[in-house]
Amino acid sequence: MQLRVVTDQPWDVKADVLAIPIVGEPAFDGPLGELNRRTGGELAALAAFGELRAKRFTSSVAAPGEVAAGRILTVSAGEKAGLDRETVLHVGAAAEHRLGGRKVRSLAIWLTPLGDVLGGGIEAVAELVARGVVEGRFEPKTLYRDHDEIATAPPILDELILIAPGADAGAAQKAAERGVIIGEGANHAKSLSNRSANDVSPEVLAEEARDVARRHDLWIDVIEPDRARELGMGMFLAVGQGSDNPPRMIVMRSGGEGERDALDRHLAIVGKGVCFDSGGISIKPADRMEEMKMDKIGACTVIAAIATVARLAPGTPLLAVAPAVENMPGSHSTRPGDVVKALNGKWVDITNTDAEGRLILGDAMTYAERLGATHIVDVATLTGAVSRAFGHLITGAFGTPQGWYDEVMTAADRAAERYWQIPLLDDYVTEMESWYGDLQNSGTAEGSLIKSGLFLREFRTVPWAHLDIGGTGYFRKTTPYAARGATGVTHATLVELALAGAKA
Ligand code: BES
Ligand code: MN
Ligand code: ZN
Repeated sequence: MQLRVVTDQPWDVKADVLAIPIVGEPAFDGPLGELNRRTGGELAALAAFGELRAKRFTSSVAAPGEVAAGRILTVSAGEKAGLDRETVLHVGAAAEHRLGGRKVRSLAIWLTPLGDVLGGGIEAVAELVARGVVEGRFEPKTLYRDHDEIATAPPILDELILIAPGADAGAAQKAAERGVIIGEGANHAKSLSNRSANDVSPEVLAEEARDVARRHDLWIDVIEPDRARELGMGMFLAVGQGSDNPPRMIVMRSGGEGERDALDRHLAIVGKGVCFDSGGISIKPADRMEEMKMDKIGACTVIAAIATVARLAPGTPLLAVAPAVENMPGSHSTRPGDVVKALNGKWVDITNTDAEGRLILGDAMTYAERLGATHIVDVATLTGAVSRAFGHLITGAFGTPQGWYDEVMTAADRAAERYWQIPLLDDYVTEMESWYGDLQNSGTAEGSLIKSGLFLREFRTVPWAHLDIGGTGYFRKTTPYAARGATGVTHATLVELALAGAKA
């Protein structure tokens, strides 16, 4: 896809579609007034008819009149007061997603109505809208079939034109190119995440990671069960042992071994890679069990994120660790009550084999520290509790110390992603005590979300944040700006966090 920032007036730009963001109740003066005049009053008529409602991401299609584009698409950005970075991202995505099944080769989007409101101005808008368009074109139905077979698939654009009269076109162009790369990274994460468990085993995920490493010149090490046993990764192996598809601990790095970034960090991003979570012997009910092929989203996201960082700032020190397993019942499976020794030496009583994410992540974080990690962020579809608490639009987040959590949230703001902090209350640790080990992996339902964080906290010694995407990792329903399935959430946050330490 060609990307072009132009400073022409929106009515002069030739494209199949001109997208016009509508902020609040539009006043038809200035350039919007001129657009309205050229459409013979169609835009004002649409507003009077109730089509341009302030409800976010509603859209309508209009004839162009004397506008150079072939068709006009309005996309509502909601009320002015609520217009934030995430809204701008989703306006771009909604424009592209709305055109699903339409014959569109070139899409032009007028940035001015958004740039007038958003802090950061037109460059921020260019980056977010371009990223949004790329993210909005993702369609999981095309994963196993051709794009042309899917009548509703968003169009493959030859050209995206961002219209920003009066802007520094060079700066906006650079910002938009950055947005495209981040969007492509999110789509990479979504593609891997959406693939089914009969397709992507732990070894296939490792092969995908090797492919990424080859393409971006990254160091990679894939630890197989024999070596994991020698190392003492008892929790990781306990989860993987029930499946005929053996586990893989995927370790990738850009930059040198233990190398510090510009912020004096050796950052590690760690992602849960359960290629299928049946629950194991503590087997899940059949209802929605098919969704548990999505339990590898964390791993797919860290693999995609390290690739994106390598594209935007090659050589930036960054470690990615993705423990990949299948959690299956069978005669080799871990039984509830099995006691195992973690890589950090703690003894863990596996009271529930369905609380498997924390087991593989615990050993992965210990291993990241062995490789020199000074700061850790993990991403995981860890609990159902987080989606009961926050739904599918807010990621639950934990962290300690608070300064590190706040740094991660600064990256999140840049990334236009939404989180809410969950407290790590020490008093609940006693409820994780085990008869036989140092702790058990699952307790009572009360405060189970907090306890999941407290469990993970036992397996790291450096500053750490935990992002629970159990609710936000995939959508069950399509939205105006995204298809069903994996969302790519946290990819941009991880990328921004790593890039904050890029060397000049
Ligand atoms: N992968 C699941 C969590 C999950 C469920 C994510 C549904 C997204 C949608 C995780 O491994 C799990 O089974 N968690 C249990 C933990 C419990 C046994 C302590 C849960 O949330 O019920
Ligand atoms: Mn589980
Ligand atoms: Zn799981």
